Amino acid sequence: MKVVIVGNGRIGRAIAGGIRRACPSWTVRMLGRGDDRSAARGGDVVLLCVKPQQVRAALEPLASELKPGSVLIGVAAKTTLADLRALLPAHVGVVRAMPNLPVSELVGMTAFASESDPKDLALAEELFSLLGRTVRVEERLMNAATAMNGCGPAYAYVIVEAWIDAGIKLGFSYETSRTLVAQTLLGAAASVLASEEHPAALKTAVTTPAGCTIEGLLQLEDGRIRSTIVRAVIAGAEA
Ligand SMILES: NC(=O)c1ccc[n+]([C@@H]2O[C@H](COP(=O)([O-])OP(=O)(O)OC[C@H]3O[C@@H](n4cnc5c(N)ncnc54)[C@H](OP(=O)(O)O)[C@@H]3O)[C@@H](O)[C@H]2O)c1
Repeated sequence: MKVVIVGNGRIGRAIAGGIRRACPSWTVRMLGRGDDRSAARGGDVVLLCVKPQQVRAALEPLASELKPGSVLIGVAAKTTLADLRALLPAHVGVVRAMPNLPVSELVGMTAFASESDPKDLALAEELFSLLGRTVRVEERLMNAATAMNGCGPAYAYVIVEAWIDAGIKLGFSYETSRTLVAQTLLGAAASVLASEEHPAALKTAVTTPAGCTIEGLLQLEDGRIRSTIVRAVIAGAEA
């Protein structure tokens, strides 16, 4: 598989790093601004990893280089399948994807949509499955996916940062607190993915009657953590 990544920024580098780790036999070529577009020739998959306002300028000189049967995967937020299709020849498949930065650690979450040949979607799924989990969604939900899993790590990092501060306040070193928090969140996420139970049931299993967990949960409820998180994600989707 020959993969071309247009856009040498944060998500482009994260995807390239993930592919190189997961699949060292694949060829990954990165194209930055001003690089020779003919380097994209022969690419089976071309990932467009530029900002939405940079899409047209990046894609126009590239379109004639794309081989028949290749698939262009647009990663730019808010850039629709129709936007991408309008800039591409008909012989190129089009998929819209929303990954997140943990693809570099092979624990990414990628949502994607396509209206072209199912084999294009299958190719995108094969690629992003190497880098973590994937879900296929209707295109109308792609802006919501941007907020859920694209922006999501930033929301989680705020929680992680505050929780580490709590550990420091309680007397742990930064390093120990970081390990305690990150591994606890990893464990909670793994339990949610592995279990058929609703998170409320998993929470109940931790919450001893009249114990310390319920004291902390009450503080979270007083801080309106649920409505704050729901409104934060909706604001991200509507931005
Ligand atoms: N960061 C994330 O967590 C994340 C997650 C999912 C999706 N996305 C989406 O991915 C896109 C890129 O985000 P990012 O955070 O990676 O941004 P970024 O760090 O700014 O990267 C964009 C890169 O594209 C390059 N570029 C601009 N025009 C180009 C052109 N004509 N040809 C080739 N390269 C060009 C930029 O180069 P210059 O520096 O020279 O301008 C820059 O290196 C955005 O649309 C975003 O919505 C981001």
